Amino acid sequence: MNCTITEKPIYITSEKKIQQANQNPNSRKIYIETYGCQMNVSDSETVLAVMLENNFGYTEEIELADIILINTCAIRDNAEKKIRNRLQYFNFFKKNKPNLLIGLLGCMAERLKEKLLEEEKVLDIIAGPDAYRTLPKLIEEADNGREAVNVLLTRDENYGDISPVRKDKNKVSAFISITRGCNNMCAFCVVPYTRGSERSRNPETILRELQEIKTEGYKEITLLGQNVDKYKYKDINFAKLLKLTAEEAPDMRIRFATSYPQHFTDEVLETMASHENICRYIHLPVQSGSNAMLKKMRRGYTRQYYLDRINAIKNIVPDSAISTDIITGFCDETEQDHIDTLTLMQEVKYDYAYMFKYSERPETLAAKKYIDNIPEEIKSRRLEEIIKLQQQLSLESNQRDVNKTFEVLAEGYSKKSPEFLFGRNSQNKVIVFPKQNNKPGDFINVTVKKCTSATLIGER
Ligand code: 5AD
Ligand code: SF4
Repeated sequence: MNCTITEKPIYITSEKKIQQANQNPNSRKIYIETYGCQMNVSDSETVLAVMLENNFGYTEEIELADIILINTCAIRDNAEKKIRNRLQYFNFFKKNKPNLLIGLLGCMAERLKEKLLEEEKVLDIIAGPDAYRTLPKLIEEADNGREAVNVLLTRDENYGDISPVRKDKNKVSAFISITRGCNNMCAFCVVPYTRGSERSRNPETILRELQEIKTEGYKEITLLGQNVDKYKYKDINFAKLLKLTAEEAPDMRIRFATSYPQHFTDEVLETMASHENICRYIHLPVQSGSNAMLKKMRRGYTRQYYLDRINAIKNIVPDSAISTDIITGFCDETEQDHIDTLTLMQEVKYDYAYMFKYSERPETLAAKKYIDNIPEEIKSRRLEEIIKLQQQLSLESNQRDVNKTFEVLAEGYSKKSPEFLFGRNSQNKVIVFPKQNNKPGDFINVTVKKCTSATLIGER
């Protein structure tokens, strides 16, 4: 008889890990602030896991912090300006607490490297996105008054063995990072320089993390990557990974971001269509509706190719909402290029869009080879026109939902009234509705009665 008992490792919840770490009265407390994309939110959870493992504590109150970490974004110049302003504020705490250490993490750290220590005297530590395991060591260096910088990018770091420590008290929605880095090299984008080359995580570690998230009681996961469609681990591509996760967690909602038009396959769409728990929402950045701009941006697809992908979505997953990213005022953009973007938006009828003025980033191909030659007033005017059109499209999209009933996952209480909850439907639209006996984390059927361009207002 085989009497071996395979013991499952006991999973310690995030709350418990924080509690245990904070029990030690001598542990130095970390405070983390996060800027930028969802990937950064996910990375901050990995950073917290590393720190707790190394006997640091955690606080949500900046006044109680022994070490302040700021996880930063470099995608546009204004993202960096915001962070520099924030550092001025941190300076104030340092004056009252000389032993306080301040560390800058993430994309801005990677972009500016040790130069930041010169420019921002308040900083003690600089760590790029692949250097988080070395944070305890960097802190030790800083304690000893030495320069503490690690901005090495690697080909294989994906933190697959680390269980991120999640802080969402409502335990509704969790991120799982599935790829890191990006090889696309779009002409405008700093990400390949700040996050390094593309790598996919072992699916076993992704499924392990999914189990942990389930144990914690979360209701929704988002699979994250700069370009999830490039996920590849042995014979497992993104569609297969999506299927694996959807079937492993049939009672949970599965989301993913971000998709890339050139690599977004029908197989992914068919996997969505055959799994109800994969949310009906696709974020497919177009950047521009003009072929000339797409070529100059090195996006690798044409307007027609993009529109064919949109048609595939509308045919295979007809109830899916679609959102996009648009950059206006890229180098040499003509009035006709701008009009091409507007007509593409009208043709697709996006439910939602993130819209930006082009911001030149040093190091990128565009910065090296092209001239940022669209005057600020023209960029602003074009952006306004794009935003105005999208508001109209979003309003029309929301109006089409009036009188429809959706299953909503409640996320929290409405800011305007505690008698109302807000949550999202599968299409990622925000719905506000009367709370009655429900709480965040519940799935509730809500009928839409009214809308604005930003929100649906529902009844039970
Ligand atoms: N300027 C403006 N927007 C940018 N984005 C990326 N790089 C830049 C830049 N240099 C936008 C793109 C991308 C989103 C995450 O940010 O639209 O999809
Ligand atoms: Fe995220 Fe890109 Fe900003 Fe880095 S630069 S934080 S990858 S959005």
